[in-house]
Amino acid sequence: MDDNVEFYVTPDAMEPLFPDDTSQGLDDLAMELIQKSSKLSGTMNPITRAAIADFLRPMNSYYSNLIEGSDTHPIDIDRALKNDFSENKAKRYLQKEAHAHINVHLSVSKEFNKGHIDRIPTSISYLKEIHKRFYDHLPKEFRKVESKDGKIKQVIPGELRTAEVEVGRHIAPKSEFLNLFTDRFENFYDPTTHSNNSKIKRIISIAASHHRLAWIHPFLDGNGRVIRLYSDACFMYEGLHSSGLWSISRGLARSNEKYKSHLANADLKRRNDYDGRGNLSSEMLTRFCSYFLEAAIDQIDYMYRVIDTESMLKRLKGFSELMVARGRFKPAAEYILTDVFLKGKISKSEAMRITGTSDKTLKKITDSLVKMELLSQKKESISMMYYVRYPIAFSPMLFPGLYPADKEIDMTNNI
Ligand SMILES: Nc1ncnc2c1ncn2[C@@H]1O[C@H](COP(=O)(O)OP(=O)(O)O)[C@@H](O)[C@H]1O
Ligand SMILES: [Mg+2]
Repeated sequence: MDDNVEFYVTPDAMEPLFPDDTSQGLDDLAMELIQKSSKLSGTMNPITRAAIADFLRPMNSYYSNLIEGSDTHPIDIDRALKNDFSENKAKRYLQKEAHAHINVHLSVSKEFNKGHIDRIPTSISYLKEIHKRFYDHLPKEFRKVESKDGKIKQVIPGELRTAEVEVGRHIAPKSEFLNLFTDRFENFYDPTTHSNNSKIKRIISIAASHHRLAWIHPFLDGNGRVIRLYSDACFMYEGLHSSGLWSISRGLARSNEKYKSHLANADLKRRNDYDGRGNLSSEMLTRFCSYFLEAAIDQIDYMYRVIDTESMLKRLKGFSELMVARGRFKPAAEYILTDVFLKGKISKSEAMRITGTSDKTLKKITDSLVKMELLSQKKESISMMYYVRYPIAFSPMLFPGLYPADKEIDMTNNI
């Protein structure tokens, strides 16, 4: 970094923290997000919803890591979740990264989905905790970063950086003064304060704060992953996450170039007197917010189409026919898959009734479905219960388009 560089040292440099003018459609986008996410949450029974959310967690990690250039194959993520790590160092590292992300995302989901609102996602202590959890799950080798001048610096889990960083052309605030910026961030965006009592304002703030946090770049490394987990936490906090049925990271990764260019544009200084009253461009912040909220809505629309009951039942039928043809399970398995999708769980006696099979034949069917991770079984009081489950391996057939096409082809060939 140039020795004569002028650093930002006071938090007024990141003004405006909220677009000066939201008349350009941001309010409408926030409303659309509320309506569509609530429609998505109402689409199915809570057990199936939770099973799909579990199935989507690796996908969320896949896309957030992909944005940072870590292209971990979903098949390898699946293996990592079974503690099957590659001998190949680079592959193993990617697997560890995915695994770490999935664990942190799960812990965040547990904190916010159960209606605990004692955690405030915008607080710096919470952001530090996310950072710490992510790095605590990673091998020590991940804690080294090389600066432009070739010096190796150590990332300390959960600690603000003590060195200077550049992101693209943006030089982040001077490390010595980071506390001033993070204090301003958390005071301004705190969703519990009187000035943030409008839900629409808080939703637009999820987008605006995503950029401002990236602009502060509080950590030496890991900011991207932490910021996207932070956005997930904000959506959860606002009840917009549809119980984990959609992922902002998938939206950002699918338009990665736009994501990065919108971030970079929002770093720019105010152009003229018509561009707000702060140091940074209000128009570019507005554009970033539109892009971000549109990406969220697009993901909700996509998931709504994918998990639509009729389409899902059609795919379960086609999938079952293929599996029967390949000798993986018996035709009656389709009835079980259909029923657990619709109800979330069924008892053994219900399973016998719908398949019209004997105890022994049913066991063969359910054993094959459990082995294929399409079912989990649990004894509840005196009855055996079967629960819906979806494995990564069958993602291209059951939830097409979730992963990029080349990955889906590999996954299909791997079955
Ligand atoms: N021009 C920019 N201005 C602000 N933030 C940016 C810009 N370009 C990229 N970013 C953010 O910085 C992140 C990368 O920061 P980094 O600390 O390396 O995160 P990670 O270690 O998770 O890769 C990107 O994911 C993005 O969110
Ligand atoms: Mg990085």
